[in-house]
Amino acid sequence: MDGSTRKRTLLKVILLGDSGVGKTSMMNQYVNKKFSPHYKSTIGADFVTKELQIDDKQVTLQIWDTAGQERFQSLGAAFYRGAECCVLVYDVNVLRSFETLNTWREEFLKQAHPAEPDNFPFILLGNKIDLDGGNSRVVSEWQAKEWCDSRGNIAYLETSAKEGYNVDEAFLCVARTAL
Ligand code: GTP
Repeated sequence: MDGSTRKRTLLKVILLGDSGVGKTSMMNQYVNKKFSPHYKSTIGADFVTKELQIDDKQVTLQIWDTAGQERFQSLGAAFYRGAECCVLVYDVNVLRSFETLNTWREEFLKQAHPAEPDNFPFILLGNKIDLDGGNSRVVSEWQAKEWCDSRGNIAYLETSAKEGYNVDEAFLCVARTAL
């Protein structure tokens, strides 16, 4: 079978986390290699796709960027359904965005209703590690890893959507986890 007829796997991925943690920026940096310092809150949800090859598999990531603002959260269920991976994003400089991760995770499981909730693949991203040369962070890598370990096997990466640090790696990890 030649490459053109080889089957492509579509993976639906959802980005979740508080408003302003950098979900849209992460997606923009990954897909368009662009970053904007201006904040424009996401309304509802939107998706982009990106094709990649993992070993001999052709994969299309369908990445859903959802609004972190509470007034949009009731839109959740329709967007979460059928997801193969959920990427939780927090800002290492904002404690509250770390404290709300549990709620995001539980709300996702409740609304997406996956067949095996205990084994559903999540990934955690600690974003904005570029800020103040790392001096303004309030959540340590250790705390984040502990959060992941105590909830099963959740991979953790630290990222900067601004500088593109670990962004490709994060989505590669997402694709491998969801496959
Ligand atoms: P909602 O749409 O409200 O859910 O927000 P969001 O999580 O999509 O955040 P968004 O990507 O819109 O980013 C919010 C603000 O943080 C913007 O001003 C971005 O420029 C900034 N930002 C995002 N990622 C980074 C980063 O890695 N480093 C720095 N310094 N700023 C970032």
